[in-house]
Amino acid sequence: MLGHLLHLAGIDSFIIENRSEDYVIERVRAGILEQSTVDLMIENGVGERLRREGMPHDGIYINVFGKRHRIDFAELVGRRITVYGQNEVVRDLIEARTVTRRPLYFEAEHVAVDDLDSSQPLIRFRHEGTDHELRCDFIAGCDGFHGVCRPSVPAGALTVYEREYPFGWLGILADAAPSSEELVYTLHERGFALFSMRSPKVTRLYLQVPPSESIENWSDQAIWDELLRRMTTRDGWTPNIGRITQKSVTPMRSFVAAPMRYGNLFLAGDAAHIVPPTGAKGLNLAASDVVVLARALKAFYERGSSDWLNEYSDTCLRRVWKAQRFSWWMTSTLHRSPDETAFDHQRQIADLDYLTSSPAAMTSLAEQYVGLPMEVSFESVGLKECRRA
Ligand code: PHB
Repeated sequence: MLGHLLHLAGIDSFIIENRSEDYVIERVRAGILEQSTVDLMIENGVGERLRREGMPHDGIYINVFGKRHRIDFAELVGRRITVYGQNEVVRDLIEARTVTRRPLYFEAEHVAVDDLDSSQPLIRFRHEGTDHELRCDFIAGCDGFHGVCRPSVPAGALTVYEREYPFGWLGILADAAPSSEELVYTLHERGFALFSMRSPKVTRLYLQVPPSESIENWSDQAIWDELLRRMTTRDGWTPNIGRITQKSVTPMRSFVAAPMRYGNLFLAGDAAHIVPPTGAKGLNLAASDVVVLARALKAFYERGSSDWLNEYSDTCLRRVWKAQRFSWWMTSTLHRSPDETAFDHQRQIADLDYLTSSPAAMTSLAEQYVGLPMEVSFESVGLKECRRA
């Protein structure tokens, strides 16, 4: 997305990816786009397929111990979310990049960043057997939590804020028509479960499991038994069963590295922050980071102003911390923790009772789930106006 926004602003960029093109297109990841992420794609000319195939949702269900409650985003805050796989977003952006004929390297090896204290940092990588060195004005570290950029920052320059959770998510993709038009977040005595989807024929489902759980311990039958046990509501709603085509376990963590900049290296997305997936915020935070960065780089090249580059980290972190707070809250409210006390559990039940009975509480969830406003104006990166809730 950053490469595309820079292209629209007439700024040269190289994209260096260590995975293969097939891997990034096929690997199933998150799937919920906030309204402003959808706007960003459409208004920058990469939202054609999203507009056709994305599944707009006006709300979600919360299933508390067998009773389903609906939270109507459209009615409460006048905005909605769209189900569209992150890998589909990546596919559309690769296609747009290819049309521009700007550099995009897959399967780059030995990627390293260096000279971060100079005004022209260096990127080294090997591609198709040839070693390359790139001197650049700026490096955008959009290389994820396990990437090379953040660890290349000298020790002590970043402060890390971190929290690990005593559970993970077992996720599956199944060839089964979604049995609900909207997502269903479930809290059951045996733990959390989530019903989601990818298309009119594919259901995506998750189960809370211990963080180091091995997927080998779970036969397909055991997964369906546990999903149905947790999700089936008292009035008989249940997911449709189908062939499982993918399954994996992901641990959960909250993580922020601050500031999101060292010299002319700017960290964006998971390279700088991780949220547990319960709030569906990871991809959307990455999108808002690069809007802020693209705007700042454009101001630098057009007006010679570094003001917005200097504000980059603070601007992003305000939104990041609010999403951290929301994701932590959704996670702790909807999971059973192995070390919870009886008091914790009663408080959790009261939290959900309040949420599902108070329009004020529902509005607060709705406002955060559809996405807090991006705080910067989009016009300088191709969008016409600042979108506000
Ligand atoms: C998904 O569809 O993959 C999904 C949906 C909602 C979440 C997390 C993941 O909170």
